[in-house]
Amino acid sequence: MRAHMITYGCQMNEYDSHLVQSQLVSLGADMVDSVDEADFVLVNTCAVRGKPVDKVRSLLGELRRQKALRPLVVGMMGCLAQLEEGQQIARKFEVDVLLGPGSLLDIGQALESHERFWGLQFKEELHDHIPPPPVGKLQAHLTIMRGCDHHCTYCIVPTTRGPQVSRHPDQILRELDSLLEAGVKEVTLLGQNVNAYGFDAGAKLAGYPSFADLLRMVGRSGVQRVKFTTSHPMNFTEDVAAAMAETPAVCQFVHLPVQSGSDRVLRRMAREYSREKYLSHIAEIKKHMPDAVLATDIIVGFPGETEEDFQDTLSLYDEVGYDSAYMFIYSPRPGTPSYKHFQDLPRDVKTERLQRLIVKQKEWSARRNARFQGTVQEVLLRGDAYSEGSLEGHTRGNHPIVVPKALGALSAGLYHARVTATTPHMLYGELVDASGEPLPLLPHLGPEAAALVTPLPMM
Ligand code: 5AD
Ligand code: SF4
Repeated sequence: MRAHMITYGCQMNEYDSHLVQSQLVSLGADMVDSVDEADFVLVNTCAVRGKPVDKVRSLLGELRRQKALRPLVVGMMGCLAQLEEGQQIARKFEVDVLLGPGSLLDIGQALESHERFWGLQFKEELHDHIPPPPVGKLQAHLTIMRGCDHHCTYCIVPTTRGPQVSRHPDQILRELDSLLEAGVKEVTLLGQNVNAYGFDAGAKLAGYPSFADLLRMVGRSGVQRVKFTTSHPMNFTEDVAAAMAETPAVCQFVHLPVQSGSDRVLRRMAREYSREKYLSHIAEIKKHMPDAVLATDIIVGFPGETEEDFQDTLSLYDEVGYDSAYMFIYSPRPGTPSYKHFQDLPRDVKTERLQRLIVKQKEWSARRNARFQGTVQEVLLRGDAYSEGSLEGHTRGNHPIVVPKALGALSAGLYHARVTATTPHMLYGELVDASGEPLPLLPHLGPEAAALVTPLPMM
């Protein structure tokens, strides 16, 4: 069998795709790079907003056309697969195999049965399953929990991924060991709400550390960089900030989605914290890590959001001074409480607010990134950049960075770079040695490589 996978959505989906792909390989499949070469195409879907759902719809339409021309098995997995909406789409587009986020290990069974196969049960074994480490990669994801116990009114995830189930620390550390053995340098711990790790349904699990202690444990493993995503402010504790500050391997990068700066909107979203409480967490983070990099998620145009509410979001942005933000227009999702109970705002109101928020985000990102000018950063370079002769990667603060290749630094690895230019979205730099001296550029690349560090025009 020649199999091809297409992944939409978040890092959890990427992790799941890797897991299923390794199952497919162990079942004897050859992974191929395009739909045309494949006789099994598996689409990992996201249901969090309307746009990713539309993308899946058009892809499945295209795959149905191909099915009419040649033997092709089409599978759909991930969040959309778990929803009635997704199952209707699957029927319409003649999908053969459907796997919910909890049934990933059923892929072998699905392919054996020639009937249409719909596996949607959550299987506990998923937590004990240790996928083989990614080959030749310096970065890896590690799932520490699945599901979510919150009920934010806009969010479909509790429906698609079910209640929170933390993974046993022994499994996490076993998987971490296998990643380290394979040469991984940076691990991102994944969960819908990692701060609540070890507290499923609000109750402390015997034998499970708190998330802060898990960070300390992982930090002692020998891994060079630890990141995590994502956190719900409601479960954030000062001890997490303390653990981050005292554990050198843990990167001082915090993604703490606020969603809105207005108490009225936060209540309607059922976020379970106030603006003041959120800001007190930011103060704790800044107290323990004055230079921490801060990122957030914001939804604009939630039903009932007034101009005044939106101004509260803008002013909160200034109070925190985020390094970066993922900004979304509210998307009504069937099956969520806000879809059922609230009236969506007009499209032009929502897009106009998003534009204003983007202006603010760019100002702050430009200002925050400029502070790195001239500093030396540890950079994890993934490999060749889009521009020839350069390598791309990211800093401990998660900033994308591009550097010209240099003698002694021609391929992926962990290096040091001095930042020579910044934009709101990127850092540019030159590789340096331990004493901060620039590494010599490749002779034949000299002038071209120097040109590559010129920043792109501000957008
Ligand atoms: N509409 C818009 N954005 C949403 N998000 C989640 N649900 C919705 C929705 N219905 C955003 C939140 C979340 C991120 C992953 O996606 O900001 O943090
Ligand atoms: Fe990830 Fe949420 Fe999309 Fe599911 S719905 S893939 S959990 S972002």
